[in-house]
Amino acid sequence: MRVARTRSDMQGVREAATDAGQTLALVPTMGYLHEGHLRLVDLARKQADETVLSIYVNPTQFGAGEDLESYPRDLERDLGLAESRGVDVAFVPSDREMYPQPQSVWVDPGDELGGRLCGASRPAHFRGVLTVVAKLFGIVQPDVAVFGRKDYQQAVLIRRMVGELALPVRIELAPIVREPDGLAMSSRNAYLTEAQRSSALGLARALRAVREAFAGGERTAQRLAELARDVMEVAGVRVDYAEVVHPDDLSPVSEAEPASICAVAGYVGTTRLIDNAPVAGPSSLENVGA
Ligand code: PAF
Repeated sequence: MRVARTRSDMQGVREAATDAGQTLALVPTMGYLHEGHLRLVDLARKQADETVLSIYVNPTQFGAGEDLESYPRDLERDLGLAESRGVDVAFVPSDREMYPQPQSVWVDPGDELGGRLCGASRPAHFRGVLTVVAKLFGIVQPDVAVFGRKDYQQAVLIRRMVGELALPVRIELAPIVREPDGLAMSSRNAYLTEAQRSSALGLARALRAVREAFAGGERTAQRLAELARDVMEVAGVRVDYAEVVHPDDLSPVSEAEPASICAVAGYVGTTRLIDNAPVAGPSSLENVGA
């Protein structure tokens, strides 16, 4: 596995791939890799000749008082995991490389999609995400990029950005990967104490309860969302939001349909966690206990 640290290293990789007639897949991450990230790598490897994994904790997507400083980092471990999973190139840029001067031009997610759900409590978050993802696309010039469905709103926004800005990259989404008890994998799970870890299961339990209620005939989105809130609160989660939304544009729905997405977010201690699932159809929630 090669490690590229600068824009020009990475551009050299792209040029060599183009000269050899090879396609590139990009898996953007903030590191502290877990099995969820590695499944993105698995999917990426099926989509292109070479796989690039970027590891960069992007400061512009963290708000004041959020966990930028404490965000878990372990580059040596990440590089070992990436290599053992078949990554061809790790792109590990510095802040200077990604933000050589103060950023003055941003990708604005807009209020309609970017101001809802996570965007309501993290106002500058998606602007930072879209801007860094656009930069990564510009530097790596991937043919395809792979993101996880756990960050569902992020995935919808990235697809929207690629479509509206006519960026020449295909976006693939990979399913949520869960721990055996159902907790969605996240680098931030590393913050949880044992007691908090069991409260955190409240998010997956809430989604499971919503799916059971839908299967039992409940269609009113507001009642499904209230159920999700109740389950999270009982588990000890401080609810940020629980909503049933349209899968394409995240608009609130009044009557849930099978493809509607239940999206939840909440705090366990100071750790903010998110999760989501369609209200019916395949999901990875089968192992979640009531
Ligand atoms: O999902 C993430 O890890 C980040 O938001 C991303 C897409 C790597 C941008 O920093």
